[in-house]
Amino acid sequence: MVARVSDHEAFLREFHSRHAGITARAMERGGSYDRLAERAGTGRVLDLACGDGALLARLPPTALGIDISTEELAAARPRRTVQGRAQQLPFADGSFDAVASHLAFMLFDDIERVIAELHRVLVPGGRFIALLGGGPTADGDDAFHALVNLLPPSTRRFGDPRAKTEAGWRTLFAGWSEPVFERWELDLGGSFEEVWAFLGASYQLDDASAAAIRAELRKRYAGVARVPCSVVTFCAEVIR
Ligand SMILES: C[S@@+](CC[C@H](N)C(=O)[O-])C[C@H]1O[C@@H](n2cnc3c(N)ncnc32)[C@H](O)[C@@H]1O
Repeated sequence: MVARVSDHEAFLREFHSRHAGITARAMERGGSYDRLAERAGTGRVLDLACGDGALLARLPPTALGIDISTEELAAARPRRTVQGRAQQLPFADGSFDAVASHLAFMLFDDIERVIAELHRVLVPGGRFIALLGGGPTADGDDAFHALVNLLPPSTRRFGDPRAKTEAGWRTLFAGWSEPVFERWELDLGGSFEEVWAFLGASYQLDDASAAAIRAELRKRYAGVARVPCSVVTFCAEVIR
């Protein structure tokens, strides 16, 4: 059966084909891959929407990764990966003890279908752990806030709003355990180039606006050795 893919999913596939490894380059300094891998445990683990495998590389050697982008998978560190959609997982029932997903669950279309697939491929008592996010801090004044103020207005909204909040998870994961949400504030401050690797990865930037905004921020942080930049994420967990 050929699935109908939305414009948003087509955008994500195309974006990640052109920029394989972009999320790992943006996020790896923040420590979230290590922390999420620790939570995933040592059983049979699936990395859902694994990108170039930054999380997968930290999971047990038996772990598997899946992503829609063949280019991301081609860039993946030497691990077992499969090309496919979260909405149609090519795995048998009860294949995994845990599914982990780093910064992807809140992007998916047809989230109920994804959750039905998670329920199917997890063993009873299996865990789904997702890093969700991430926005700027509520009251800060760092490079992330500066970027948000400069971004052109966008109508692009990915995923299902319920996938991003604890209340939404309670509705979506009815029949699973009560979801547990933990706030992880990641410090992505560093040299301008390091911080831009994160800011410039925004889905809201096209090539022209990226160049202009980068130049503006470069000016703003001229002479600053460590550019401040924090991102708020949530580690969410639920048991089947
Ligand atoms: C923000 S990136 C995160 C990648 C990786 N988890 C990481 O944090 O480095 C989102 C990833 O989701 C993948 N993706 C988007 N929609 C998908 C879908 N429906 N099924 C599987 N992968 C998907 C993209 O190709 C991309 O690699």
